[in-house]
Amino acid sequence: MSKTISGFSKLSKSKKIDWIANTYFSNQENAKSIMKQYWNSNEKLQQLHDEFIENTITNYYLPLGVAPNFLINDRLYTIPMAIEESSVVAAASKAAKFWLERGGFKTEVISTTKIGQVHFIYKGKKSHLETFFDVVKPVLLKEVKLLSKNMEKRGGGILDIELRDKTEDIADYYQLHVSFETADAMGANFINSCLELFAKTFKAEAMNFEGFNSEEKQIQIVMSILSNYVPDCLVRAEVSCKVEDLTENENISAEEFANKFVQAVNIAEVEPYRAVTHNKGIMNGIDAVVLATGNDFRAVEAGVHAYASRKGKYSSLSHAKIENGVFYFWTELPLALGTVGGLTNLHPLVKLSLEMLHKPSAKELMQIVAVAGLAQNFAALRSLTTTGIQQGHMKMHLMNILNQFKASPEEKETLVNHFKTHTVSHSAVVEALEKLRQ
Ligand code: MEV
Repeated sequence: MSKTISGFSKLSKSKKIDWIANTYFSNQENAKSIMKQYWNSNEKLQQLHDEFIENTITNYYLPLGVAPNFLINDRLYTIPMAIEESSVVAAASKAAKFWLERGGFKTEVISTTKIGQVHFIYKGKKSHLETFFDVVKPVLLKEVKLLSKNMEKRGGGILDIELRDKTEDIADYYQLHVSFETADAMGANFINSCLELFAKTFKAEAMNFEGFNSEEKQIQIVMSILSNYVPDCLVRAEVSCKVEDLTENENISAEEFANKFVQAVNIAEVEPYRAVTHNKGIMNGIDAVVLATGNDFRAVEAGVHAYASRKGKYSSLSHAKIENGVFYFWTELPLALGTVGGLTNLHPLVKLSLEMLHKPSAKELMQIVAVAGLAQNFAALRSLTTTGIQQGHMKMHLMNILNQFKASPEEKETLVNHFKTHTVSHSAVVEALEKLRQ
C-alpha cells in the first residue's frame, strides 16, 4: 500500500531505495538490485550524476549513438545522438550518406535573439506609466551592468527593454518585454537573473516616482521569466540537387520520387494531423542531438511547436519544392542552444559529444541540430513515399523483440539473417524463435 513520507530528500540514497522497495515492490530484493545495478562503480562520476537532481536513486541509461558522414557547409561531422527509438540513428546515417554524395547540407543562422518578460499589474493612467518607463529604462540598464558584464565580454547582453500594454487581454496587465543576446550560452540563468533584477528595481523605483499617485506606485510584479518561444533565434538548413540525381531505387523514377516527396511535404503544410507526425520525425533528430549535447530538449520542443503554429494553424517545419529541374528541401527552426554553461562543462558524455562536433559555438550547434532534424525528416519521407515506414522500423525493432525474449547471440545471428528476406512482425519473430528453440 502507498504511504506518504516526510523528510525523504534527507535520507541517504540507500535508505531512499529501501523505502521505495519496501513500499512498492513485492520482490523487494529484486527491485533494490535493479536500482543499484545501474550505479556507476566510479564513485566520483556517480556523485556527479547524483547531484544533477534531487532524490537521485539510480541512473537511467539511454543509448548514445553516432551518425557519421554529415557534410555541413563543406565540413564533415559525426553527429552524436542520445535516443531510445530503434530506427533513428540508422535513418540519420542513411540520409547523411545520401546527401554526402549530393553536395551535403547548407545551413545559416538567421537570428539569435531571446526574450524574457516581467509580467506586472499596474492600475492607473497609461500615460503616467509610459513617462515612468522612459525615466526608469536607463536606470534598469545601468543596474543590470554588474550582471551582464561577463555576458557582454562574450558578445551578449541586453538588446532592448520595451513596455508592452496587454490590457486588452487582461485588465491592468503590462509587461517589460526584454530582448537578449546570450552568445554561446543558452542563457536561461542569465536572462532570469536580469529579469528578477529589473522587476525589483522597477517596483522600487515606482514607489519613489513623483509622477504616480499613491495607487499607481503600487505596481504588482506577477512573475519574471524567460520565454521559450524564440521565433527570432532561427536557423535554416537546406539540401538541394538536380531532380535526376535523386535516384531512389529501381522501383521508382527520380522524378516520381521528387514529386511524391514534395507532395508529402505539402500535405504536412496544410494538414495538422499529418504535420504533427511529420514534425515529430524532425524532432527525433533534433531531440537526440540536443540531449547528447546537454541542452534542454523540453525548451526546444515547446519553442519549436509554438513556431510551427505561429500562423494560427499547426503546420510543417520543413518545406520542399522543385524549380527548374532542381529539388529543394529545407527547414527553418527556432533553436535556443548553448555550448557553455549548464551541463556542457559537467557531464562527461556531453563534453565528449561537443568535442566530437569540433567544439561548436552555439550558432554552429544550432546548424548541426537543424541538419539532424532535416536529415531525419528526409529519411522518414523517403521511406514513407517509397517502401513504407514499417520495413525499416521493424528491421530495427527486431533486436528489441529478440532481447525481450532473451535470445542468445547465436539465436540473434540466425534470426537477423532469416529476417533479411522475411517480413518482420512481432508474431513472425516469436514464431521463428520458438521454431529455432524446438
Ligand atoms: C516515427 O518516430 C517518425 C515518423 O512517423 C515521422 C513521419 O511520419 O514523418 C516516421
